[in-house]
Amino acid sequence: MPDKYDFLVIGSGGAGLSYALRVARHGSVAIITKKDSAESNTNYAQGGLASVIAGEDRFEDHINDTIIAGAGLCHPEIVDMVVREGPSVVRELLDWGAKFSTREGELDLGREGGHSHNRIVHAADRTGKEIEQTLLTAISRHPNIHVFEHHFALELITEHHLDREVTRHDQDINCYGAYVFDTRSDKVEVVLAKATLIATGGLGEVYLHSTNPSIATGDGIAMAYRAKARVANMEFMQFHPTTLNVPEANSFLISEAVRGKGGILRDRNGYAFMSDYDDRAELAPRDIVARSIDDYLKKSGDESVYLDVTHIDKGELSVSFPHIMETCRSFGVDIRKDWIPVVPAAHYLCGGVVTDRDGRTTIQGLFCAGEAACTGLHGANRLASNSLLEAMVFSKRAADESVAYIRERSWMSGVPEWDDSGTVNAEEAILIHHNKQELQQVMWNYVGIVRSNLRLERAFRRTHMLFEETEEFYQRTRVSVPLCELRNLITNAYIIIRSAMSRKESRGLHFSTDYPDQVEEARRDTII
Ligand code: FAD
Ligand code: SIN
Repeated sequence: MPDKYDFLVIGSGGAGLSYALRVARHGSVAIITKKDSAESNTNYAQGGLASVIAGEDRFEDHINDTIIAGAGLCHPEIVDMVVREGPSVVRELLDWGAKFSTREGELDLGREGGHSHNRIVHAADRTGKEIEQTLLTAISRHPNIHVFEHHFALELITEHHLDREVTRHDQDINCYGAYVFDTRSDKVEVVLAKATLIATGGLGEVYLHSTNPSIATGDGIAMAYRAKARVANMEFMQFHPTTLNVPEANSFLISEAVRGKGGILRDRNGYAFMSDYDDRAELAPRDIVARSIDDYLKKSGDESVYLDVTHIDKGELSVSFPHIMETCRSFGVDIRKDWIPVVPAAHYLCGGVVTDRDGRTTIQGLFCAGEAACTGLHGANRLASNSLLEAMVFSKRAADESVAYIRERSWMSGVPEWDDSGTVNAEEAILIHHNKQELQQVMWNYVGIVRSNLRLERAFRRTHMLFEETEEFYQRTRVSVPLCELRNLITNAYIIIRSAMSRKESRGLHFSTDYPDQVEEARRDTII
């Protein structure tokens, strides 16, 4: 690929693609993405995008719902801004060509846990696919945007690579682009940019069971951390309450919108247990539902609870949830007459690379948007369907800011080539796989829905050993995607564990049996 662009976008999910479309009028854009361009968390989003659109709903209600879910850690001015910009990003998506579900000519608004009104804009139960395809189509028509599939970002280029003295202040570090590994030609390239956007998404792969596709290895967060950007709130990992619990289903998500339509959680005897835990029952925020299921399973010794939608009109089920219905059927579950066996799984990272209200990180020339970012919107727990909203709003703001930023910038010269010496030893490559499995098991067992000091200390020791082994391997081996992803996963696991250890209370998504209560005065963000 050519070595110079005005804008370098790392990641082709909703955040990266929409940013690219917005900056493309102002300069050349490269989007690099590590697999096929559609492969992203965005592509799998089901429920939809939350926005105040119609009826009795008001901005104040959406703001309030978001802040309640965030358990005292949301930044109120950011919540206010994002909620108020919601309708304009929905309009922009419609203008780009997105086709959302309608009822009697108006957008059909769904309901999810923690929302006081119906406000989820959706395309049946494949909202993410509709958004991803719409953006990719618009991008394919834009002459200034170049998409490079199977290109893996290895490291951000900063002063650290230029052999210059770096001060202790992260505001003095600049980003000049990235080292990019073309996995087809097996070469590492220097890609210079005036502005770089991290839009690499989340890190579900750090856990054994996750709703995320395998691309979700937190590469952008790990790269930014190594470059000394600020990273925050990594202890707040959201577990989705309902994923299909049948072998080979890979934690397929059963959308919260199914509970929004009236789905009931039952134990194997049919008992609807959720109202024992919370007055809002199935529509409590998802941290409460996930913890309740976890607790119920531990107490009963059962392997699943069940989501019952057999009382819902069959026509309604097939119009609203065709994808869920079809996928369940392929695993032998007919949701019209069978209860769906479900368990929680890791789903969404609330923390990430710290940004300001315009998507700026603490490194000059480096922007971040989407799930990789920690913007202040979610606090200690994300309200359902607020992440597609956040990705769209912050990519817009980061785009405006990047356009202004590059006016005064030129490309950095004298960036050294990547030192790609080392061996590839096929026998040792299997060790990468073993270490990844071990890491996922450790994180699942000890840093899951319910945590304790003992579990976190154990996780820390195990992860440290994996870190040492992997770093040693990395130093004497040529780069490969599995090795770099493992390294990034370990970095992220380390930050999650340290953040969790430092929070001596239970708040939002972080629950510790040693500190079951919330301290009165919330410590704001956990910065690592
Ligand atoms: P992603 O869409 O994940 O895109 C990341 C991109 O970065 C990918 O293209 C990836 O290949 C690329 N990438 C990563 N690392 C590298 C690297 N090193 N080099 C090059 N490229 C790289 N949210 C909602 O608001 N509503 C929902 O209904 C909803 N449903 C969901 C359902 C599922 C099953 C899942 C998994 C998530 C859901 N979410 C939902 C969350 C939401 O989809 C994501 O938070 C959001 O789409 C993230 O967008 P993004 O652009 O930040 O990242
Ligand atoms: C879902 O459809 O349940 C996912 C919604 C979300 O993660 O916001």
